Amino acid sequence: MTNHTNDDTPKAHALWGGRYAEGPAAIMRDMNASIGVDQRLAADDIQASRAHATMLASQKIISAEDARKIDDGLAQIDAEIKSGKFPMSVALEDIHMNIEARLTERVGEAGRRLHTARSRNDQVATDFKLWVRRACDDAMAAIVDLQKTLLQQAALHTETIMPSFTHWQPAQPVSFAFHLLAYVDMLGRDVSRFCDARRRMNECPLGSGAVAGTSFPIDRAQVAQQLGFDRPTANAMDSVSDRDFAIDYVAAAATLMLHLSRLAEEIILWSTPAFGFIQLPEALTTGSSMMPQKRNPDAAELVRGKTSRVTGNLMSLVMLMKALPLAYNKDLQEDKPPVFDTYDQLALSLSAMTAMVGAWTVNAPRMADMAEAGYTTATELADWLVQELAIPFRDAHHMTGQVVRLAEEKNVRLSQLSLEDLQRIVPRIHAGVFHVLSANAAMQRRRSFGGTAPDVVRQAIAEAHKRLS
Ligand code: ARG
Repeated sequence: MTNHTNDDTPKAHALWGGRYAEGPAAIMRDMNASIGVDQRLAADDIQASRAHATMLASQKIISAEDARKIDDGLAQIDAEIKSGKFPMSVALEDIHMNIEARLTERVGEAGRRLHTARSRNDQVATDFKLWVRRACDDAMAAIVDLQKTLLQQAALHTETIMPSFTHWQPAQPVSFAFHLLAYVDMLGRDVSRFCDARRRMNECPLGSGAVAGTSFPIDRAQVAQQLGFDRPTANAMDSVSDRDFAIDYVAAAATLMLHLSRLAEEIILWSTPAFGFIQLPEALTTGSSMMPQKRNPDAAELVRGKTSRVTGNLMSLVMLMKALPLAYNKDLQEDKPPVFDTYDQLALSLSAMTAMVGAWTVNAPRMADMAEAGYTTATELADWLVQELAIPFRDAHHMTGQVVRLAEEKNVRLSQLSLEDLQRIVPRIHAGVFHVLSANAAMQRRRSFGGTAPDVVRQAIAEAHKRLS
């Protein structure tokens, strides 16, 4: 069922209806209207219009008096919108025309001069860029918050031993801090992706006009500077049809969400009683309506789920741009929902992750116990045979395999085998080997750069702190 807007008799559109005898059909108006979505651009639209009007006056394209009226009027409209009192009209299509019409209501003819040397095409490109640029800043700040929270947890757990996994099989003992630092580094790459995107997008499209520039003697550099851009965009036609900046933002967001989904997945596993590595606070879990014992990690599951949504948003944008001829086409109005949704999902997901990481309780004894299950110190044994007895690694690996098999048969851990047991497989082995068979020893000995030994990890934490400040 369609919910047509029922304005009385169709009349020609107030802002572009000069060549029209009649107004648009109801279906045309409903389809065309984007005000429900693009009102989120209001503050940016006003900021860009104020810069444009200031430039028009300094270039003597409009009078100083008109520019002052426009600027005052726009400042009032800004306040009106922020207080929620602005009447958004569907008949006026979008945020640009809503604001312009309101300006004219307030300041009269001066308002009708604002659109000189400008088109909605360069206007929307500029507004949207300002919005996405801020979205990049917000994303970076929220990622850094999460990184700092991970680092706080890491600082507490440089000696907390847990198993690492490859193929979901127990691999080698690591510290919990080391595991968390993996995410700090991953998120560092995300920050750099948003930072790159921001730097690349920071050119101002305003003054490109509808497609080909303008005959008015405008100063694009002035507008660019006032809006905090590095410079004006170079080609007017590219400027009004480019949405790479939106794709860059959503692509960076999708990669970030992939990373968050990996941490979310681990949180889900770690907090299940079968693992019992961590417990989430009650406030960040939910119960089941049927099973009273439940403590479900819904927030983490939703982050995992929202990853698909943000990745879908990226696909929407990419498909929107595919084979789109130059320059502006109305298809481009569909660029905003995926970007705005991405922003909202990112904000929720980053806050939820930061809250979970900051408030979980860590069950260190359980982690330590699991760190030695599954023969995780077998690599240590093989390395020791190479280092102490000069056995070639391939032979050491084979002998260690036999040791593991023996431990399996006896149903004991490697450190629980007797010296006689070990000597039946490696005659020259001596009691010194027991120093390396504990999970703690295995962790302490991995001192290579980037390794899990506590000193190395403390150094990495210090470096990460430096990068973040
Ligand atoms: N609401 C439009 C959008 O978001 C503004 C630009 C309209 N331009 C035009 N030539 N009709 O894309």
